[in-house]
Amino acid sequence: MAHAVDSSSVVNIADLRRLAQRRLPRVVFDYIDGGADAEVTLRENCRVFDDVLFRPKNAVSTPVCDLRTTVLGQHLALPFALAPVGSSRMFYPKGEIAAAGAAGAAGTAYTLSTLSGCLVSEVKAGTTGPVWYQVYLVGGRDIATAGIERAKGCGCGALVVTIDTAVAGLRERDFLNGTKELLTRRIGPMLPYVHQFLARPSWLLGFLGDGGLMNFPNVVLPDGPMQYADVGAALEKSTVCWDDLKWIRDLWKGPLVIKGLLIGDDAKRAVDEGADAVVV
Ligand SMILES: Cc1cc2nc3c(=O)[nH]c(=O)nc-3n(C[C@H](O)[C@H](O)[C@H](O)COP(=O)(O)O)c2cc1C
Repeated sequence: MAHAVDSSSVVNIADLRRLAQRRLPRVVFDYIDGGADAEVTLRENCRVFDDVLFRPKNAVSTPVCDLRTTVLGQHLALPFALAPVGSSRMFYPKGEIAAAGAAGAAGTAYTLSTLSGCLVSEVKAGTTGPVWYQVYLVGGRDIATAGIERAKGCGCGALVVTIDTAVAGLRERDFLNGTKELLTRRIGPMLPYVHQFLARPSWLLGFLGDGGLMNFPNVVLPDGPMQYADVGAALEKSTVCWDDLKWIRDLWKGPLVIKGLLIGDDAKRAVDEGADAVVV
């Protein structure tokens, strides 16, 4: 990343959140920070971490803490990897390459979303760590097949198939921030909402210097990369079904991860369908 984080003002995730809020236009910050409807699930997902307590064994000596582990046959220096986060290029110039590079420097893997602003091969070239490719079937099977082939061709270490996005969440903050209006790229509808960008000049400069509104270079439609404004409609038409896992499994011989399982039965089924790992 271009700037080191100043540890006198940032000591935890809440501090990083505050910095992000200060740097990003509201519509972008709320895309990262917000959830669906009344955000009940989002709050609950955060709250349950407070229920987790450790039971440390005391009076033992641990001269070295070794966090190394092996996941899907790949060596990681840390016992976690970065989850796919679509549109990261909206947060920071070439955001996916920056995040993957930071993950690699820390010794862990980066998962690139299908819905990213940087090409998978460039992300792979930008990190010393493993890159895993997350699949949405946007654009249909042939378009997804081409994406999977590209991921294979540049040496991605796992394919992560997300199955919990059959409908897009009703994100109430998006209505207030004018997400739909801003994506029309017509001055009339945009006008009431553009002040969010003007209030964040350093983000705006970076955004313009990075080419402005990103598209999706990993989703190559017959007329070129999918445009940003088309993503909602494309996602709604891209439900993954168990049948799809058969052709995906045939196409991708490497480690296969099924992401977005909410019930135990589906986790068992994912393994029966050939998954090497699941993300709950
Ligand atoms: C801004 C944002 C974008 C995301 N984009 C994707 C995506 O493109 N594909 C995907 O499979 N999951 C996506 N996710 C879900 C994350 O990969 C992850 O599963 C989720 O945030 C739960 O993990 P957490 O509790 O660590 O946030 C996204 C999450 C956020 C917050």
